[in-house]
Amino acid sequence: MTAIRTVSTTPFPDQQPGTSGLRKKVSVFQQPHYLENFVQALFDTLEDCQGQTLVLGGDGRYYNDVAIQTILKMAAAAGFGRVLVGQNGLLSTPAASAVIRRHKASGGIILSASHNPGGPNGDFGIKYNINNGSPAPEKVTDAVFERSKSIDKYHILAREAVALDRLGETRFGAMTVEVVDAVEDYAQLMGELFDFNRIRALLTSGQFTMHFDAMHAVTGPYACTIFEEQLEAAAGTVMNGQPLPDFGGGHPDPNLAHAKDLVALLNQDNGADFGAAADGDGDRNMILGRGIFVSPSDSIAILTANAHLVPGYRAGLTGVARSMPTSQAVDRVAAQLGIPCYETPTGWKFFGNLLDANIVTLCGEESFGTGSNHVREKDGLWAVLFWLNILAVRGQSVAEIVHEHWAKYGRNYYSRHDYEALDIDAANGIIEHLRASLTQLSNRSFGGRQISIADDFAYTDPVDHSVSQHQGIRIGFSDSARIIFRLSGTGTEGATLRIYLEQYESDLAKLHLDTQDALADLIAIATQLAEVKQRSGREAPTIIT
Ligand code: G1P
Ligand code: ZN
Repeated sequence: MTAIRTVSTTPFPDQQPGTSGLRKKVSVFQQPHYLENFVQALFDTLEDCQGQTLVLGGDGRYYNDVAIQTILKMAAAAGFGRVLVGQNGLLSTPAASAVIRRHKASGGIILSASHNPGGPNGDFGIKYNINNGSPAPEKVTDAVFERSKSIDKYHILAREAVALDRLGETRFGAMTVEVVDAVEDYAQLMGELFDFNRIRALLTSGQFTMHFDAMHAVTGPYACTIFEEQLEAAAGTVMNGQPLPDFGGGHPDPNLAHAKDLVALLNQDNGADFGAAADGDGDRNMILGRGIFVSPSDSIAILTANAHLVPGYRAGLTGVARSMPTSQAVDRVAAQLGIPCYETPTGWKFFGNLLDANIVTLCGEESFGTGSNHVREKDGLWAVLFWLNILAVRGQSVAEIVHEHWAKYGRNYYSRHDYEALDIDAANGIIEHLRASLTQLSNRSFGGRQISIADDFAYTDPVDHSVSQHQGIRIGFSDSARIIFRLSGTGTEGATLRIYLEQYESDLAKLHLDTQDALADLIAIATQLAEVKQRSGREAPTIIT
């Protein structure tokens, strides 16, 4: 008979989930009872866990192994009937979403701080996904936070750790722990959506080279199976394929700044034809061609325009959605296709209802996130396979496809400037100052540019009519240029101000400018309006993507 222990605890005041779950420094999670409090607050909020099935896994970062065992013991104490765990405790975020859906689980816990650095001095995180595989909506995360503020005890099974290295079932108290092969399930799903024969023909043609950088994070095993085994890409196509607790000391964020080795391989003379990378938990992607970077906002537009070439989407798209700060490139494609384009707040959780209601098929965010109705998370490898499928069918280079797209639809020059680790009061001051300036901004013009909209973005979900306020300061101009300001909801150090800049260009002679040059006027307006320098002391952004 295994005993359930009840442990007294006191609340932590800071357990409010952000854009994507609760994310803190590892040292914060290592405080006694910190993780347990949050997990108990979640289980209390879910109310009936009796006999339910839970999915559990993480991106393998430092503390993943410890946290998994704690959660298993707490799940058993809460009365779950079965927990499906990824082998060795690993599950990419999209794979977790797929497992929840395929096995009809009541929900899942994913341990990840996404693209944030790992290791003892890095970040850790925990997020909950509901039974459709989607990140928990705000009403759930708000309820968990409320519960966390009054928690005074948690329940945990007094038992030794369970081995997670071999597939199969183990009894754990009254609960069953089943270690699952998530790679196999996920690869099968990808094979149903994409034309693997055609992609294999491209990859083995001798005319095409690619590199995929797994950044020592969770996608390594998935990428090796799919690219190197099933699609027969050359051995070594997958770089940094072994998941490591500290991501090999790197920053597992697939962008031009953090995937430098990959970028160099694409930019050299006779560089590879195609390059891609995914982040810590496998939901983000970066797409590169020889000498060209595909901005994520352009990527979702190009996938939408070419979806008819891909088996899983040949039947047509019901609609598309993008987060508010994402460029309007996809809006132009949707208009041409005669399908709706929804504008949601930042964060994948806002796409869940639209996908469930089948009013959108593809979704995208400027933050290297792209996905579809196949799961309820953004999906890095899915985006890479989508691109490969298009390349295989069209027989053109990435650059040719992008340039043709711009020529047809015009180009939305786009960039995001991040000011990281700002003093929290200074950052809040910037947003409050902008909010206070909105009414007076409405009719102003800057260097011949007339402001046509200036608001604090609020969103009403078209399906459940829930309202989300204060989702970013949005300034739009009559020529469809935009500047958006918002504070990050995923950072763990001070505050991060994000400034999103977008300008549309349809003049064929001006489609190939340097992005920062093309946006220079808007950048000057943005920093002036926000009084960035006066209020933060910063001369320049920390990172530009
Ligand atoms: C960031 C991105 C957002 C994304 C989230 C989770 O959130 O901007 O698009 O959904 O990470 O990957 P933020 O830090 O801006 O709140
Ligand atoms: Zn991620």
